[in-house]
Amino acid sequence: MDAPSVDAAHFRHVVGHLASGVTVITTGTGESRNGMTASSVTSLSADPPMMLACINNAVPTAEAVSKSGRYAVNVLGDGQGELARQFATAAADKFRGVAVHPGTLGLPLLSDALAHIECEVVEEVTGGTHTIFLGRVRSATAGNGQPLTYFRGGFGRFAFASDDEVYGRARELVLSRAYPADKAVPLEDLATRLGVDQAAAFYALTRLSSDGLVRRDADRGYVIAPLDVRTSDETFDARLTVELGVLALALDRITDDEVAGLRRRFDAMAAQLVGDRFVDFHGYLDANYALHEYLVSLAGNPLLTATFGRLSIKSVMTRSFGATPSTSQKFVEVQGRLVDAIARRDADGARQAAIDYCEAAKERVREILSLTGGHL
Ligand SMILES: Cc1cc2nc3c(=O)[nH]c(=O)nc-3n(C[C@H](O)[C@H](O)[C@H](O)COP(=O)(O)O)c2cc1C
Repeated sequence: MDAPSVDAAHFRHVVGHLASGVTVITTGTGESRNGMTASSVTSLSADPPMMLACINNAVPTAEAVSKSGRYAVNVLGDGQGELARQFATAAADKFRGVAVHPGTLGLPLLSDALAHIECEVVEEVTGGTHTIFLGRVRSATAGNGQPLTYFRGGFGRFAFASDDEVYGRARELVLSRAYPADKAVPLEDLATRLGVDQAAAFYALTRLSSDGLVRRDADRGYVIAPLDVRTSDETFDARLTVELGVLALALDRITDDEVAGLRRRFDAMAAQLVGDRFVDFHGYLDANYALHEYLVSLAGNPLLTATFGRLSIKSVMTRSFGATPSTSQKFVEVQGRLVDAIARRDADGARQAAIDYCEAAKERVREILSLTGGHL
């Protein structure tokens, strides 16, 4: 019996989840030079220092490396996505407009790359359509900067997990009102409170700014963005619009398993709001978000899910509902109606419940804002 196999397109999709750095492999000298974008490049051993690069035999660079017996790995920096595209597209002169200087082995090195490694080929191994070039490292230099990354067919940036952690703490500080609304957040002060250097604090502020929690002011630097009625209305209206779109697209094809998934998430949320009070506000917030994110995901449209993720729902809810433990049981009731109507595939009922939920949320934020002079 044949061993099970995996379809090439499916394999490409799955293996696209393995994030990598991006390099340009160059070879040749003077006018006779080749270059190609490559992510299948790996360090192989430290003693002796060795690299490997996997190159498709159909690409001219494969033959050129084989002939010259040497190649350079140019590690690209985070602003070099266009350069990666240039070297991934067949052209008469792929090096047009690119600053190049000769390396120790005379190989063409891309001057603005993050790092350069020159190798001499010591072995060629065939693997499927590719040749694996094992290279003995003859020179290696690195500059400063952040690498370009590649994930699921797109270029991106690298982030340290510690940056995420600092951002999370900065977010907590802002949400717990450590700085008053519409007042500046001095970089040194934020860095001191977080116990990190100013670069890490600055990174956190730029992310808080894309969350809508702080905004950049020409004179004062980053200031706490006040939450007002308009921001709240816009956010809840945007969520409603996404959810109405999801209901229009997906209600007819939501499965019983998916309804059960909605119910589980609803029950987890309902357990966090009892007797007009939050049992644990953050528990409620996470469960509420999980319920609505799941509902949006049922449309099976990643763009809608990403749009929902960008709405800053959690930050608006934290800054409003999170200001007081008392709330209203009607939030559980109206979301229960939404889930029930979806279970009956009742389009009118589901739409009405989504609209009622949105209006109740906007109304409640208005009440809270009126107690605090118009903004939080
Ligand atoms: C991010 C990225 C990574 C790539 N990695 C490799 C690789 O590791 N090996 C390879 O043979 N081709 C890889 N390619 C494809 C080649 O860059 C492309 O086929 C080649 O440069 C075409 O050039 P040519 O037509 O001049 O031969 C990659 C392309 C991109 C965009």
